[in-house]
Amino acid sequence: MPNCDTLIRNATVLDGSGAASQCLDVALNGDHIREIGNSLKYAATENIDADGLILAPGFIDVHTHDDTAVIHNPAMLSKLSQGVTTVIVGNCGISTAPVQLRGEPPDPMNLLGCADAFRYPTFAAYVAAIQKAQPSVNVGALVGHTALRNNQMDRLDRTASATEIDNMRRQLQEALDNGALGLSSGLAYLSAYSASTDEVLALAQPLAAAGAVYTTHMRSETETILDAMNEAFEIGRRNHVPVIISHLKCAGIANWGRSGEVLHTLDTARASQNVGCDCYPYAAGSSTLDLRQVDERVKITITWSTPHPELAGQTLAQIAINWGIAQIDAARKLQPAGAIYHSISEDDMRRILRHPATMIGSDGLPNDPLPHPRLWGTFPRVLGRYSREEKLLSLPEAIHKMTRMPAQRFGLAKRGLVREGYFADLVLFDSEKIIDTATFADPIRPAEGIASVWVNGVLSYTNRGATRKCSGRFLPRGKTTWIQ
Ligand code: ZN
Ligand code: CU
Repeated sequence: MPNCDTLIRNATVLDGSGAASQCLDVALNGDHIREIGNSLKYAATENIDADGLILAPGFIDVHTHDDTAVIHNPAMLSKLSQGVTTVIVGNCGISTAPVQLRGEPPDPMNLLGCADAFRYPTFAAYVAAIQKAQPSVNVGALVGHTALRNNQMDRLDRTASATEIDNMRRQLQEALDNGALGLSSGLAYLSAYSASTDEVLALAQPLAAAGAVYTTHMRSETETILDAMNEAFEIGRRNHVPVIISHLKCAGIANWGRSGEVLHTLDTARASQNVGCDCYPYAAGSSTLDLRQVDERVKITITWSTPHPELAGQTLAQIAINWGIAQIDAARKLQPAGAIYHSISEDDMRRILRHPATMIGSDGLPNDPLPHPRLWGTFPRVLGRYSREEKLLSLPEAIHKMTRMPAQRFGLAKRGLVREGYFADLVLFDSEKIIDTATFADPIRPAEGIASVWVNGVLSYTNRGATRKCSGRFLPRGKTTWIQ
């Protein structure tokens, strides 16, 4: 009988392709899947009877801000406990590499940490730091446009000069040469809002030859969202580069109900170019406190404040009443600060979530002392609440959005499928029990229903908690696939 490290018997395999499940045995050896079949015969070091539980590829969190977390907190329990085996960092225009700071990081780079967290002047240095830290999950990384701007520009309230764009491109190229997945932008933030479309167009040019992607937290998610989408598509079309719209949503009460036209605009672009998006399964967003988003009709919770740390957890409305001032004035006094904005309609979010081009990304903020529950809950919430309970999408479809689709769009080689020869990133879970338990009031709570998680063939998490065996890797860019 041949040997293998782990034999998982009687698993209900959802392979990530979107196909229906099959009852199979799966043999793991080293870091990969050795064989899949019926009644496999192996002398295995570890034998597991899955007893009909679902075995799926480990989930890929395509939208994270785990850039420094994977190094400072390599256990990464917030993600591992959801069945996530790969995180993509560097989203929304902010990344920790390549970065040379002069002083404190600008908003919203401060979401990733204070000045001392930015220690990677080159992308290669960041890759080396991940390899040294050996987190429990794999890491793919984007380069942030805002990070590059801050490296090269004396002030961020203007567009970059030709020389500055050249300098940014050189840094982007170094990152691409060392395996970066692509470029991200955060054009809505004031640190990048003044960048012209031409600046981003020029900067994004080297992505095509590298086969890398452009992801964007768009210039607007409110009134001018369609213009912002078209700007993103233009940048992709003119450079022949795939585009991923980050955390697609219709933000602000005045925009509720517009998901139909937003998705129509997405579909129109999809007919002629490589375009996708990601979404988190909540009707509330979170970021730094932005004065432009203060609206007395929207519930805004303060999650941290540098001048007033004692007010974390209170709503902006309460704080304003206590201070006897308007919410906008209270917001000014709290800055710099973090906030959760209950400014999304559940109906719009659902329509975007179920759309065939939508991947799942948590957008969780690991440095936030009172994080949005998406940090710990996103993936089990899609599977438990939106697939099982509400039947918004089938289980194979939901798994596909978390596995194969992101592996193809971001170019993660041999990930995202349960297939022979692929890396053994796997999650075993109970489809009847899986559910998020993190809430806005109590956000740091692991999900229920996850039985086992393997990363590169190593059992890293069980229903008793982390095994403390960390085997995540840095994932260099592979070949992206155009999914229509
Ligand atoms: Zn964002
Ligand atoms: Cu983000």
